Amino acid sequence: MGKLAGRSVISIDDLTNEEIYQLFELADSMETNESTFNRSGTGRIAATLFYEPSTRTRLSFEAAMQRLGGGVISTWDMNASSAVKGESLPDTIRVVASYSDVIILRHPWEGAAQIAGEYASVPVINAGDGGHEHPTQTLGDLYTLHKQHGNLRGLKVALCGDLQHGRTVHSLAFALARFGADVVFVPGENKNIPTYVLHRLERDFGATITEKGLGILSALFGQRDDDENTPEVNAIYMTPTKPNQLALFPQEGAKMDFRISASESLSIYVTRRQVEREEKGSKASSGYPRITGETLKLRPFKNISILHPLPRVDELAPEVDKDPRGLYFRQAANGYKIRMALLHSVLGLDSEEKQNSVIGYSRPAKEPIYIGNDFKCVNSLCVANKLSEFAHNRFEIFRSQNYVLRCLYCDHESEPPFVGNIESHIYYPTHFLDRFRPFVKVTNLRFFTSAQEAQAAGFRPMSASPAEEPTLEDTKTLNDGSWIHAIHSS
Ligand code: NCD
Repeated sequence: MGKLAGRSVISIDDLTNEEIYQLFELADSMETNESTFNRSGTGRIAATLFYEPSTRTRLSFEAAMQRLGGGVISTWDMNASSAVKGESLPDTIRVVASYSDVIILRHPWEGAAQIAGEYASVPVINAGDGGHEHPTQTLGDLYTLHKQHGNLRGLKVALCGDLQHGRTVHSLAFALARFGADVVFVPGENKNIPTYVLHRLERDFGATITEKGLGILSALFGQRDDDENTPEVNAIYMTPTKPNQLALFPQEGAKMDFRISASESLSIYVTRRQVEREEKGSKASSGYPRITGETLKLRPFKNISILHPLPRVDELAPEVDKDPRGLYFRQAANGYKIRMALLHSVLGLDSEEKQNSVIGYSRPAKEPIYIGNDFKCVNSLCVANKLSEFAHNRFEIFRSQNYVLRCLYCDHESEPPFVGNIESHIYYPTHFLDRFRPFVKVTNLRFFTSAQEAQAAGFRPMSASPAEEPTLEDTKTLNDGSWIHAIHSS
């Protein structure tokens, strides 16, 4: 595990599949050889900074640190900290880093853990950043699935409930795509998985996304699969593009319903409605997935396993607790074990690991990158909007229907309608980049959300001087790859 020493874990992407398997092994061996590990963290200090409520995540990290022989510093309530006096997160982080060896942060702003990682001189672990990611919950979820099924490749997992704001679901979907699982997204009404998550699954992990009928999963809404009253919910199916599993969708492209064969097992991961992230005045939705004793009696659910990150509200009826298919309390216990393995690894508690420390987080990203400066992320909860003086606005640029800028703090996507060239001070509709991109360096681009904004910044519309930019004829043969090539070779 030497490679993890000194590293921050902000996204589940910060860990490779191999590192995740190594954490499983370490967690297993910690369980069987407890005495070997229970002094390994003596003299080390973890700081837990929780700007949002927590039971499991906070207490499991604190218990894990104490089991390793280390200590914990914390503020019980961030409303009793200098945050209420107006101290910025980067300032708090820099100070707390000087008292501790690792910081575990939960915060309502999306990308908060990343900005903390950029400013901290010790590793930062993301314990949940708004509705964005929750990588250590995912480690516990994967560890539970791995213990139950022995393998993650080819596993069928239905992610159900509040897929819009459920950060645990987002991190878990990214990981399951990487491990080659088949995922079915079953949202509550109006709780769909965000487009930015689906784009990331397609672009970064090569997943195939299709829409299918709920089929047997209608039972989660208390309906039979042939019932006309099935709620208006679209199930989105994700399959790893390359590996196998075609059997699940034999007629690719045709509208099909979800089915599983008698020999297959399905893991159903249920989440609660994230009321605290909803806009004020949002109505409670009537169609929300729920598992009851009745659901468990249905034949297709004979081999399911049921997971939930907890806390539950009413998505799991209490009678499910007695059923061996319910794994959620075990899952919470596994979360504690895997966090102990993660702390042990990040702190480099084997002496030789300490030399590898990489402090100061920098998110890996695909070129081309747009350095945003005054371009704002569309997400009002993005840390880059909340802490604009501290953030280093960066966006990945990619071509979908139009050019898209993906915020490298919160992953939300913007499609700015205009772009200008800072050398010519000419701006044009963004899709014109198809023509011009071989001739402009990405560092010379400036994106605008309106023509007025471009003009206020001193840019002229292209029509005023068409001769200054290359024509379509010059560029007909270019494709996406050549843009990137052109930027690097220019
Ligand atoms: C989750 C969270 O905080 O995102 N809880 C947890 O960490 N176990 C899920 C939730 O609050 O619904």
